[in-house]
Amino acid sequence: MYVLLWDNGRLPDTFTPTIPGISFVMSATDLSAMGATRARPSLTSHGSRGSMMQKQVGGLSLEQVKENLLGILADNTDYVVNNIIEPFCRPHEEYCRIQQLLLENLERGLDPVSHPTAPVKMYPTFVRDIPNGTEKGQMLALDFGSHHLRLELVTLDNGSCTVDSQNGFVPETLLTDGTGEQLFDYLAKFLHRFLKQRKLLNRSDPIPLGFTFAFPCVRLALNRAVLTHWTKNLHCDGVEGQEVVAMLEEAITRKGEMNVVVDAVVNDTVGTLMSGGLDDPTCAIGLILSKGVNACYMEQLDRVGTWTGDTGEPKQVVIDTEWEGFGADGCLEFFMTLYDKELDEHSKRPGRYIYEKMISAQNLGEIVRLVLKKLHDDDIMFQEHWTEEMDTRGRFYTKYISEVLSDEDIRFQKTRHVFEDLHLGHASEIECRVLHHVCQIVSTRAATLTALGLATLIDRVAKNEVGVAVDGALYRYHPTFKTMLEQKIPLFLKKDKMFRLVSAADGSGRGAALAAAVAERIKGNHCALSTDIPNTGDNAHTDTPNTGDNACTAEEGNKTPDASVVNQMSDAK
Ligand code: GLC
Repeated sequence: MYVLLWDNGRLPDTFTPTIPGISFVMSATDLSAMGATRARPSLTSHGSRGSMMQKQVGGLSLEQVKENLLGILADNTDYVVNNIIEPFCRPHEEYCRIQQLLLENLERGLDPVSHPTAPVKMYPTFVRDIPNGTEKGQMLALDFGSHHLRLELVTLDNGSCTVDSQNGFVPETLLTDGTGEQLFDYLAKFLHRFLKQRKLLNRSDPIPLGFTFAFPCVRLALNRAVLTHWTKNLHCDGVEGQEVVAMLEEAITRKGEMNVVVDAVVNDTVGTLMSGGLDDPTCAIGLILSKGVNACYMEQLDRVGTWTGDTGEPKQVVIDTEWEGFGADGCLEFFMTLYDKELDEHSKRPGRYIYEKMISAQNLGEIVRLVLKKLHDDDIMFQEHWTEEMDTRGRFYTKYISEVLSDEDIRFQKTRHVFEDLHLGHASEIECRVLHHVCQIVSTRAATLTALGLATLIDRVAKNEVGVAVDGALYRYHPTFKTMLEQKIPLFLKKDKMFRLVSAADGSGRGAALAAAVAERIKGNHCALSTDIPNTGDNAHTDTPNTGDNACTAEEGNKTPDASVVNQMSDAK
């Protein structure tokens, strides 16, 4: 066990323990996992941007990865350099070029002239501030982001937030083959069950609800949003181009017995920002790193050319960047590896979401699989044993990357489990090592791309200390992603800023309730939502599993938004 403490409370980027006969370089996070003490700095300051930091792979420098991989595959040096190292371990200058392109894309999205064709839409929300702790009252929060569904009864009381929640699951068939009415009926049925269990049906006073809808939308009001197009492989008919709150309200009416009024609809990034903001007032950015990848941030009103709302105080508005669209005009082509191109070609929307495809939990595992498959197809490794699973698209799950990178020593126990899960038993130590390195370089590239995006937003925020509220499976479960972000963001900051990553686990749902409460506060309504909902007692703070069954079918309604909205959306797809 190595226990290390540095003067400044931070571990160095790498540390190489000497295990006789074996070179195994460990990252700071590996050390933390082994029990090394890492005093967490409250805010990370703008770090050095020297050339020493230019080619880093996780805790390993490019040279170390090269050395390790070349040592393992000594007979195939050129092959390894050309097919693994050079494609993924790109010079810092290329990342800086991407950062410049992203900045240009953000500005295109904010400019009313270029907005219609901008790949990064930069949608202004109607959220104008984060919570300040004075918000009070009770409210429902419904969080829908694809397969997972979550309902919460949120109680806000002078800075404290109590949540009584229930998780649910939306069947795949409904998401890909169902109609919009079926989908919203399913949500309404889930809500009905939740209210029934809490004896909140047929109330005379309406219960306010915040709706987190984690898809790109043009906002018409705090509680009105039109879905531009489905993302995350959803294909539910009859929702694109429709106002989603009206669809939810109609489903609630169809189901009956519920007196619920939707006060706010927000993206999951915005919900995460609001939730993080309740704990940490420096929060000005919300980030989701999951199946989808997106960020929002607080922008000054005079920089939002597309803003048509009220220009009074506070002179700021949260922008939902929808930056997953970055690269749809081909500007990232120069950076794509042969693996990215193959993944894109076989995706449901080729040519779209290029930035997201290099980062998201939906794709990282597949990129690793494609690298392994190339090694196999070119007779470099895995000649002896290869399985149908390894040949199946999407079968190498991104969670495997987290497992492989959690291995703490050369027994590679978790890596071996991953191979077993893929029916590729009896993996050799060499195969384990190669997989470990491939997972690391693919993860590092994803973290670097995320870091340059975050640094760009941190620089734009009108604050010197910026909290970034983060949630999503990739952030929560990947053992080194957070550390890599903390190390890499300073490499891309252009201003002297302090930043902090604030974990906002499961915050996206309650964030919609908070958004409505903040809007009430700004209007001077004493932040009161509803204060007479009976105390839910036992369930507070708990998550109850949902048993869920399918909702009934109903005919599609006619909910066409006005022409200006349709125009704004026309190039969004
Ligand atoms: C997708 C959606 C975006 C959402 C993100 C995270 O990229 O388009 O709206 O915020 O996933 O769930």
